[in-house]
Amino acid sequence: MSTKNIRLEVMRFLEKNVDTFIDQYLIPVEKIWQPTDYLPNSEKETFFDDVKELRELAKDLPYDFWVVLVGDTITEEALPTYESWLMQVEGIDNVERNGWSRWIRQWTSEENRHGDLLNKYLYLSGRVNMREIEQTTQHLISDGFDIGTGRDPYKNFVYTSFQELATFVSHNRVAELAKKAGDDKLSRMCKRIASDEMRHHHAYSEFVNSIFEVDASEMMLAFQYMMKQKIVMPAHFLRESGQKISTAFEQFSNAAQRIGVYTATDYVDIMQKLISKWNIDKITGLTDEAERARDFLMKLPARMTKISERLVVPPDSYIFKWVQPAVK
Ligand SMILES: [Fe+2]
Ligand SMILES: [Fe+2]
Repeated sequence: MSTKNIRLEVMRFLEKNVDTFIDQYLIPVEKIWQPTDYLPNSEKETFFDDVKELRELAKDLPYDFWVVLVGDTITEEALPTYESWLMQVEGIDNVERNGWSRWIRQWTSEENRHGDLLNKYLYLSGRVNMREIEQTTQHLISDGFDIGTGRDPYKNFVYTSFQELATFVSHNRVAELAKKAGDDKLSRMCKRIASDEMRHHHAYSEFVNSIFEVDASEMMLAFQYMMKQKIVMPAHFLRESGQKISTAFEQFSNAAQRIGVYTATDYVDIMQKLISKWNIDKITGLTDEAERARDFLMKLPARMTKISERLVVPPDSYIFKWVQPAVK
């Protein structure tokens, strides 16, 4: 059987457990939090006072913080790209309501709340240029992304395992910074989003675990493939209005590094966590090629740490159209 057909077999085999995965890792609509739970309630008399308080607290947050929060929001808002991509993955792409597409839809419905909450918060904060942000979001959705996984489920699940953990780290750090600046409400919002990301990370990395149990060598090669080419961020095509594709990503990423929201060290930490989580050192019955892939993976974090130590982040903020510098 070709490797593609084996993957389809494996996906069909795992699909039998999708309902269990959904019960274990996703939360029914009536039980899960909604953006409104964390925002001023516009039906209430207290709405304007609550918004005023929200805006007061927002005043103390620094420039790069806003850039990062905007970039994170736009990344969340490009969800149509992620859903349509995942629906194309071998074994998922079924117009029928099969188990895997049900998983993707329900995961999407949870993720959709993240951009929704952050967007409304930014709008109320008064600190950002919403029209510029909206243009960037529209650009990013229309530019799509290319994460180098093709339609391979193994590579895609490595990507989502990594990415959900990366978003956990970044939303959680933003929450910590907001808390330090005295903005407990914003901090709670970001913590809430981070906890969803962690739950999703557990799910996707469990899918990979299950694949390791039945197709270890191919799973190992897929993991190596993704680490070799590096995980690109979902917003790697980010641009500001009037600019060329991908021109804003580096500056956004620099801002995140400057304020310690997501750094090169985090990248290596996540890789190491995946290696431990999937017990890469203990997997048995590998082909020679997969054994070599395992060796490569086991040595990679140390190698990447050395490279990341040499990275220099520009010290000064880059001024985006999304956020005007505060008038002193
Ligand atoms: Fe999210
Ligand atoms: Fe996520």
